[in-house]
Amino acid sequence: MLGNFSYSNPTRLYFGENSLDFLSTELSNFGKNVMLTYGGGSIKKSGLYEKVVKILKENDKVIFEDPGVMPNPTVEKLYEGCKIAKENNIDLILAVGGGSVCDYSKAVSVSAWCDEDPWDKYYLRMEEPNNKIIPVGCILTMVGTGSEMNGGSVITNHDSKLKIGHVFGDNVFPKFSILNPVLTYTLPKYQMTAGFFDIMSHILEQYFSGNDDNTSDYIMEGLLKSLIYSSEIAVNEPENYEARSNIMWIATWALNTLVAKGKTTDWMVHMIGQSIGAYTDATHGMTLSAVSMAYYRYIMPYGLDKFKRYAINVWNVNPENKADDEIALEGLASMENWMNKIGLVMNIKDLGVTDDMLVGIADGTFIMDGGYKVLTHEEIINILKASM
Ligand code: NZQ
Ligand code: ZN
Repeated sequence: MLGNFSYSNPTRLYFGENSLDFLSTELSNFGKNVMLTYGGGSIKKSGLYEKVVKILKENDKVIFEDPGVMPNPTVEKLYEGCKIAKENNIDLILAVGGGSVCDYSKAVSVSAWCDEDPWDKYYLRMEEPNNKIIPVGCILTMVGTGSEMNGGSVITNHDSKLKIGHVFGDNVFPKFSILNPVLTYTLPKYQMTAGFFDIMSHILEQYFSGNDDNTSDYIMEGLLKSLIYSSEIAVNEPENYEARSNIMWIATWALNTLVAKGKTTDWMVHMIGQSIGAYTDATHGMTLSAVSMAYYRYIMPYGLDKFKRYAINVWNVNPENKADDEIALEGLASMENWMNKIGLVMNIKDLGVTDDMLVGIADGTFIMDGGYKVLTHEEIINILKASM
């Protein structure tokens, strides 16, 4: 293991079919004013909303509702949420939904009592909160982002065409998260598989960095194999508890900071994907799948040893009598087959990207330097063109 680091994770998880039973226990740790944040209505359809409200009332909480958190939450919505939280002196933000609701709730938690414009402070200047932070709890209904056990909070600003994530410290992680795999059964297939690829991408962004022998890489190979296996079952049998529960658990471990330890980490697929999201408002996981093959084929020669290892250890490519690049390419071809099999979007045109957007998307892509190749602006444009 390289590097010096500290590790702790303050989020308490409740996992399994009966995990909602623990909401009451957790509620006793917080004051009476609860802001209930949720999305566009899926929790009302599924009956989860009623169950949560009942538990909140049984615990004598005063509920302040904040519905309508959109996928890829916007800065305008954030300002609205801050107003509700501040005016009602909120003690706990309870996020019921997917990564968007969770991310948004974290953004409100650090912004409500912030005297400055939170977009400028947290997303443009990347400063840390120095004001009161409202605690967040989460009941997860969509799997993928890892937001249930991390400090990530991604906000979109359509006016400036920027989608930016701030990874806050562990004072912003959810205090608790309830993970019931059954709650994810109602996800439309498009969202479900987008979430599967989001998980894959989180792992690959961390795996494809560094040249040392690192325990995190072995953990990630295990997570990837389990994801590939379970995802193929889940697309055919969405109510297969074993597959859905494994995937829920993989998603949490993929991005709860553990496997990043000792790694420089890449994150360029996410940077390009987020900029595509700022232009198209497309589903997060699909913005990643649509550029991944072009990206990985392009950087493969710069990290050949790791791509070879990926092919052999994750995709079971037989290396006998083959050159290294042949093995690596076979691994990427297996990944592409799997992506097609589970029904992912494989090009950015299908997400609404047009030729005239490419330069702007590249302009809005933050360039990171932890992967095998630091990209230039021109290389990003070439990857986008190859993804059309
Ligand atoms: O709004 P509702 O009606 O709830 O519908 C949602 C939404 O339309 C629906 N949905 C969620 N659970 C459902 C359901 N529909 C039926 N049954 C259920 N059980 O799914 C749609 C998408 O939900 P959303 O929360 O937007 O998806 P996801 O969890 O993928 O979150 C995406 C956001 O997370 C950010 C992304 O950039 C994006 O803004 N990310 C956050 C990260 C983090 N915190 O670390 C990292 C990720 O890389 C990602 O960037
Ligand atoms: Zn992601």
